[in-house]
This record gives sequence, structure tokens and C-alpha cells, in this order.
Amino acid sequence: VVKAYYENFRPQYHFSPEAHWMNDPNGLVYSDGTYHLFYQFYPDSTVWGPMHWGHATSKDLKKWNNEPVALAPDSLGYIFSGSAVIDHNNTSGFGTSENPALVAMFTYHDPVRAEQKTTNYQYQGIAYSLDNGQTFTKYANNPVVPNSDNLVDFRDPKVFWHEASQKWVLLLVGGDRAMIYNSDNLKEWNYLSDFGQNTGAHGGVWECPDLFPLTIEETGETKWVLLISINPGAPNGGSGTQYFIGEFDGETFTTSQTEEKWIDLGRDNYAGITYNNLPGEERIFIGWMSNWDYGQVTPTEKWRSAMTLPRKLELYNNEEYFLTNPPIETLTEGLKTETPEINKKNGNYAFSHSELNQSKVAFDLPKPLSDFNIKLSNTNGEQLLITYNSVKKEYSLDRSKSGYTNFSDAFALPIMKAQANFKKGDSADFSIYIDASSVEFFGDGGANTMTAQFFSSKPYTEFSIETKDKPKTIKITPIPSIWKEN
Ligand code: FRU
Repeated sequence: VVKAYYENFRPQYHFSPEAHWMNDPNGLVYSDGTYHLFYQFYPDSTVWGPMHWGHATSKDLKKWNNEPVALAPDSLGYIFSGSAVIDHNNTSGFGTSENPALVAMFTYHDPVRAEQKTTNYQYQGIAYSLDNGQTFTKYANNPVVPNSDNLVDFRDPKVFWHEASQKWVLLLVGGDRAMIYNSDNLKEWNYLSDFGQNTGAHGGVWECPDLFPLTIEETGETKWVLLISINPGAPNGGSGTQYFIGEFDGETFTTSQTEEKWIDLGRDNYAGITYNNLPGEERIFIGWMSNWDYGQVTPTEKWRSAMTLPRKLELYNNEEYFLTNPPIETLTEGLKTETPEINKKNGNYAFSHSELNQSKVAFDLPKPLSDFNIKLSNTNGEQLLITYNSVKKEYSLDRSKSGYTNFSDAFALPIMKAQANFKKGDSADFSIYIDASSVEFFGDGGANTMTAQFFSSKPYTEFSIETKDKPKTIKITPIPSIWKEN
């Protein structure tokens, strides 16, 4: 363990910046065996400020290397969120076919004009790298998408190659709708359509869109999924990410979905987007593991916030379409598993951990599910509770007594609640990933997800599950102690 990462609350297997402020993941792109993770970064403070793109790379999405800051503000403004692609056909002319450019597209946010309350202060720019993201050159004719309608919020470009139309497609958000464009060369963009004015949740500004196809394994049916982050307006308060399942023909996104759907009903998964240019069909998602309600006042000292575990998005149909988002399968390779108790009738339990101090508890329970209570606790009497209520078919996560909570009224309450979705089958499998200051709960293979930060005064060393059919509490021993005692 690198010394700088051995400190209170420091995640051990989630990405966090070595120091200073981080928010959204940006420019998730895969190239030649390397996963790039760019992110909103302010290198001078532990609170939000003039935005840069920080950069980290990984070969396996488990261990990350810190790279030099990729993009810094210039006379056009701060560098807000966006995406990146590999321009294999050299449509932009920035690279060659032997050495294709990594092209980043981001929002310029002009702080001076924003201060003057001018409407037109966000527009889109591009920059390219010919050395695998080590250094970038900003395009001389930025902005490539000016804010011609003078929208107050006009940001977060997601660009991807659309095979069927042989075009680059761009999505961005303008206020609380998504706007769709296309291009042949990443420089000149044609506006095509917009989506969302009469659909979905609108309690806040729409941010960080994403759009991609997913195929249901069992039936071979393909649908398009649109992700939209919204802040505020999430069902459990503050920031959250909703999704829409529908059709996309290269120009217009349509859906018959009427009810709101959310990726994660914990409070700490925001602004998540998926990887571009992955070799297979897999859709890998990473979110910012925090919430604008309190993200800037959490009790860490040198750095602020971490990313969620990388997750695999899958489409599922059980009377209606929904997304599951379990952690990627390779994440737990090499984990040593202990099985404290196995009982086929009432369910199985397993606890595993690795050299990386990665703690995972997995168990399965017969369907229909009956009530259960999960408690994570330490010797200072702090506890985090996860429960299932079979009458309401509802999960809840309560961190009101989880440790330090008084840095923000918004942190402890409300108790997070999630209506249960179920996959088909006779039993439901659960997994819970615990790091130094976060818990990620995956119900029924990720059909229900709740992600929550906590800041306990000591590590949690006990995990217990209590079920109605099996009233005995099963204790599972220590989550590795990963920070120095004060
Ligand atoms: C989402 C967001 C984006 C914006 C960025 C600024 O958390 O507000 O809309 O581009 O953060 O840091």
C-alpha cells in the first residue's frame, strides 16, 4: 500500500485522487489494453474550484496509476465534464491510421461570463492526444459546439461512434433535456433532435448524459439505454442517475417508458458514464461516489471523494425492462473466500477478502424473500443497517448512526429506500462490498443497488445477517482494519 493512501477513511480498492478535490468521471475510454479514467479535478483545494481533467490509467480496473493532469483551464474557461473516443479512421485528421488520436470532448465553462449572469457561458471544445493521454493539444478552432440558443446549462458532451449511420453521435444536456447531434469529423456538428421535456424526473438540472445499446442475453433483443444524472431531484435526495430504455435510430431517441427508473438508490452514485471503445459488447459504468448535497464537506483531509466500483450494465426483462449493475466479474478474482455457514434450505453465506483489503460479503436467499436485517458495526457502537421489508417489497439503508454524520444535516437523513426489482429464478443473490468509507449493496445480482459513504470513528469489524427463517444472527468477522488508530 502506498503510504499516501494509508490514512483515515481512505478507500483501498476504489479509485480516489492522491490529493485534492474530485467529482465526475470523464472521458472513460479503452485503448490498447489500457482503461483511461479522466475526472473532474481541482488540484489546489479539497473543495470544487476551477475544473481540470485529472487522469488515471489501469490494466484491470482494479489497480490505478496516477497520470499527469490532462486538461487545464484556458482563456475559454474551466474544463467541465465530457467524454473521449479513439478516432481509428482518423476522421478528425488529428492523428494517423497507425497512431489514431484520443479525442476528448468537454464543456468549456467561462467563469467570468457566468458571474455576469450572461446566459451563454458553456460551450463544447475538443482536444487530442497522440501519446495515449499523456499530453493533449486543444483544437485551435474551439468551441466546436457554440451555445447558439443561449442556454444557461449547456454541457457534458458524450460522443460515440454510431455504427449503423457511420457517424459520430453527440449527446449533451441543455437545461433539463438531452440534445442530440452528429458529425463526420468530430469538429462540425449538426443538431438533430432533443429528448426529455415530457418524460422522466425534472427536479433539477440534467447532467452527464450517456446513450448505448444493450442486448438481453436470453432473447437477443436490443434496446438503447439513455442515462441522465439529475441534481437535485433524486428520490432519496440530492444527486442521482435516472435511465430510460427505448430506441435510437441515429437521430432520435424515443421511449414508451412512463415511470422513473434509477441506476442506484443509495445517495452516493452520481454522474456515472460508461466506457467507449471496449473491444466486446460489455458496458462498464463508473460513477462518482458522492452527492452534491454534502460532497464538499465530508470529513476527509487531503482528498475528497472516490469513484464507485466499475459495474457491468445489463438489460433485463421481468414483465418490464430494467437495468442491473453488478460489479464487473473480474473484480473479485483472487479473493480468498471463507464460508462461515452453509445451509442449502435457508440460503448460503460467504465472506471473502483479499490482499487488497477488499471485503465482500455474499449470500443468497430463497424467493419469495422474507424480511432480513444486516448490520455492520464497530466497537464504538456505530452501525450501518440494511434491511428488506417483504410486505412493502422495499430495501432500506440507514446510516444515521454510522459514525461521523454531523458535518452535514443532509448526510444522515433521509434513510435510503429502494423498491425491489427481481430477476427470474428461485433464489436471490446478494453481495455487499465494504471499503474504508463506503458500502455498495447489490440486491438480486445488481437488480437493486444502493451505494453509500460512511465515516466511522473506527473500522467496522462485525457484519451480521438476521433472517426470519433463520433467526440466528450470523456473525462474520473482521473487515480488515485499514487505518491507523488515533
Ligand atoms: C456534475 C457536474 C457537471 C459539470 C461538472 C462540473 O456533477 O455539475 O454537469 O460538467 O459537474 O464540475
